[in-house]
Amino acid sequence: MPSRKNFELQLQTVGIECGCDKVVPHEYHPFYANHFVDYVDRPFKLLEIGVGGEGREVGGASLMLWSKVFPQAQIFGLDIYDKTVLDTDRIKTFVVDQGDPVALSVFVAEHGPFDIIIDDGSHKRSDQLTSLFTLIASVVPGGYYVLEDYFTSYWPVYDGSTLAKDYLDTPVRWLKQSIDIINRNNLLSEEIKSFLPDWGVEELHVYPGVAFLRKGLQAVRGEIPNAEFYANQVELDELRYGAYKDSFFEYIKDPMTSLKVLHEVKVRLEAEIKRIESQSAVNLVVDSQDERGS
Ligand SMILES: C[S@@+](CC[C@H](N)C(=O)[O-])C[C@H]1O[C@@H](n2cnc3c(N)ncnc32)[C@H](O)[C@@H]1O
Repeated sequence: MPSRKNFELQLQTVGIECGCDKVVPHEYHPFYANHFVDYVDRPFKLLEIGVGGEGREVGGASLMLWSKVFPQAQIFGLDIYDKTVLDTDRIKTFVVDQGDPVALSVFVAEHGPFDIIIDDGSHKRSDQLTSLFTLIASVVPGGYYVLEDYFTSYWPVYDGSTLAKDYLDTPVRWLKQSIDIINRNNLLSEEIKSFLPDWGVEELHVYPGVAFLRKGLQAVRGEIPNAEFYANQVELDELRYGAYKDSFFEYIKDPMTSLKVLHEVKVRLEAEIKRIESQSAVNLVVDSQDERGS
């Protein structure tokens, strides 16, 4: 197996040869080197969503890169365009829309599970979330689910937003929520847990532009110390924040609903303040007229 540093150099050199944007301009290769060096000398299965080139060009730069640096890997590529011209004995491409959960499920039932899944497809938030939610169960224990260019969560052209970033259901939101998922065993509320799927993820590595979720081997899991402590903490949490539970659940279910509710409350409050202010102004005029009259 090469050293991490040599593998990074290899990814860089081969990536440039293949014209892969993972290296230029994105410079993700040091991050891939951190996590994928162990795969070099072994057979495994890698799936990448998004072959490249769209309908205009052949694409396939990253599939070439992976097939060169992982000589024993079986490589699968999904795209909405037919890319079978790239198929070899170790590269197989399929026309599958990553936003279609049924098509994804049919695909993984036949070809999964995978050691590594990389989402470098449409970069639209709903497609990315459909793929993540549908495919993460098909990553083997110890394997990776990689989200490339997740910063598109901040850009309207991909159906994201910077202004409304805390009120949209985006990959960035789920990367943040995966901290809660990793710590599921320490969450007190079963209702809150029910909104957080047990993906079996135990590691989250977030780099500029690319994030790695790693499935656990179910080895070590944090636990709440004992039943008495648990009961006490549940009670305290209820006492402090129980009154707001319904709004917390609404928010976690769909942060966008809260944005609408907050806006409606704000509009109603402003209208009420205006009504009170104009009523006070009328009262002041009447009072001063009364004073003058008396
Ligand atoms: C950024 S390119 C992929 C680049 C490639 N992974 C690489 O590193 O060389 C994105 C690809 O995703 C494909 N794509 C767009 N929408 C898709 C969808 N809904 N499902 C699957 N693939 C999609 C496009 O056709 C395009 O070829």
